[in-house]
Amino acid sequence: MNIQLENDEQIIGERERTVLELAIEQGVQITNACKGKARCSTCRVVVVRGEVAQRTEKEQALAERLGLPENVRLSCQLKTRGDVELRRVVKDDLDRKLLHQANSAEERNLAILFSDIRSFTTFSERHLPYDIVHILNRYFFEMGESVKAHHGRIDKYMGDGIMAIFGLDGDNHPAIDAFGAAKDMVRRLQGFNTWLETSYGEQFEIGIGLHYGTVVVGDLGHTESASFTAIGDTVNVAARIESATKNRCTILVSEPVYQEIEAEGWESTELLLKGKTEPLHLYACPKAQET
Ligand code: FES
Repeated sequence: MNIQLENDEQIIGERERTVLELAIEQGVQITNACKGKARCSTCRVVVVRGEVAQRTEKEQALAERLGLPENVRLSCQLKTRGDVELRRVVKDDLDRKLLHQANSAEERNLAILFSDIRSFTTFSERHLPYDIVHILNRYFFEMGESVKAHHGRIDKYMGDGIMAIFGLDGDNHPAIDAFGAAKDMVRRLQGFNTWLETSYGEQFEIGIGLHYGTVVVGDLGHTESASFTAIGDTVNVAARIESATKNRCTILVSEPVYQEIEAEGWESTELLLKGKTEPLHLYACPKAQET
């Protein structure tokens, strides 16, 4: 069986193996960001001619979600039934250049922590920019120590905000670690505030949101400045949970985190996120358990 691709590239087909498997084996490039799990659409091909097998269940589900036409197939699920002609969809020169980056992506179950300093904008209006840099660096140092101590990694700083990831080193309890770090951050904030009060007559209040679930991690950004990060619904939801701490509590966690840390009796609240039909159940850590 012959699988003919654009640019005169060819793959020798086999009835029981997918086009992607054969392509990888025979050194033909097909982008496969999710590594053949039917969880992306980068391995799409257009079936120009020839007979192919029906969609697998996983492929059908993704095709329905993305509204893919009948002749657009996932090469990681596609098996051929004779000579075929296929055309890769993700294939121009830039796509090829980014192939390594796309293929570095990986789905993981991780805990995500977002934190933010309340009313930081008005705080920064009252102080000199050099002072703010000094204050923030001291604050980030303290918070970073808490994250490190609980096997987390600070993913990025967003102004006065922090995003941290837990579970990257294969640790089996990312949500427990994330909660441990959150409590440690609150504890360290007390010491930091003593310094801030003495030096600048101010104190910080912070909000921390925690969520646990599936994310895609990988290198993101321009090839010369790409950095490792996590993206996906879990990350967006964690950021929204942190926003919801305002006027409510210091540490707010999602249901999956609440289950993992085996907490009980915390005040619960519901949050309806944009584009979702079901509200999210959130739990506020009682003051007495914050440190
Ligand atoms: S590699 Fe992601 S769907 Fe095929």
